[in-house]
Amino acid sequence: MTSKAIAPGKIILFGEHFVVHGTRAIVCAIDKRVTVSSEKNDTAGISITSSLGNATIPITEKVNNVDKKFRPFFHLAKKIINQNDVKNGVNIEIESDIPIGAGLGSSSACCVAAAASISGLFSKPENDKVIELAIDAERTIFPKTSGADCTVSALGGIIEYQKDSGYNAIQIEHDFNLIVVNSQNPHNTDMVVNRVNQYKNDNEESFTDMCKEEDNLITKAISSLQNFDLQTIGKCMSQNQIFLERIGVSNDQLLDIVKSVEKETFGAKITGAGDGGCVIALTENSKKDSVVEKIGAEYETYTVTIEKTGMQVNITN
Ligand code: MEV
Repeated sequence: MTSKAIAPGKIILFGEHFVVHGTRAIVCAIDKRVTVSSEKNDTAGISITSSLGNATIPITEKVNNVDKKFRPFFHLAKKIINQNDVKNGVNIEIESDIPIGAGLGSSSACCVAAAASISGLFSKPENDKVIELAIDAERTIFPKTSGADCTVSALGGIIEYQKDSGYNAIQIEHDFNLIVVNSQNPHNTDMVVNRVNQYKNDNEESFTDMCKEEDNLITKAISSLQNFDLQTIGKCMSQNQIFLERIGVSNDQLLDIVKSVEKETFGAKITGAGDGGCVIALTENSKKDSVVEKIGAEYETYTVTIEKTGMQVNITN
């Protein structure tokens, strides 16, 4: 029996970093995906294969002793095996077309697809259970994650997310043309989140004010998304970029990209942790090819569409 699961990557439209501190975020799934295939084996080991390497680890190994690149998958497999009270291991194979360390949700999509695929070997995976397992697995390498990325990867579409109260789907009738510009400088999300935490500790009052401003911005962004008011969405993105600059997650290169793309589009901002990774911009359908061509002369640039479907699982015997 093979259990194969697919999960999409994501972009954060509004609210990255602030979401870790309790503010809302708007997150959407994109048409880049991870596929994870799992099978039971008749050994006492968990085998993991991905573009980052291969490992076979005894089920009895402690999660914290496992190399970080395999840890979330080992943690998931061990947990699901123990919950189902079986003694044998599983083989897990991960394939991805989401760039790593670019802020496009590669690690979360891997956790979601792995949670769905391994669970599928034992019972029908339900969305909320997969989200819970995936966030728990991601926390083995990134303890402060807000859970926004795993949640949207499991659900698809566009969601409003808050760490403590969960998610609401945002119903959108139109397609949006989003451009992604990859700085090709990978970032370490955990490190950038810790840096913002330090900023918050050093600037309590202004950080609290910014969280309130971000929340107001999100209210405005939700209604402009629903009204397909591209001008206002773009302005909100540029305002969000200013907040991200204030908390120190931008840099000269990202600012340079934002300024160049902004001239050609409704608005642009960093997406995800920042300090590298990608910039996103909102454009019109009729302009998207010329923007990609122009910015693409200097940076890897492509369009993404919003993926309406979240994780999907297929079991074959
Ligand atoms: C990373 O994609 C988004 C952050 O807000 C972290 C998180 O929400 O877990 C920086």
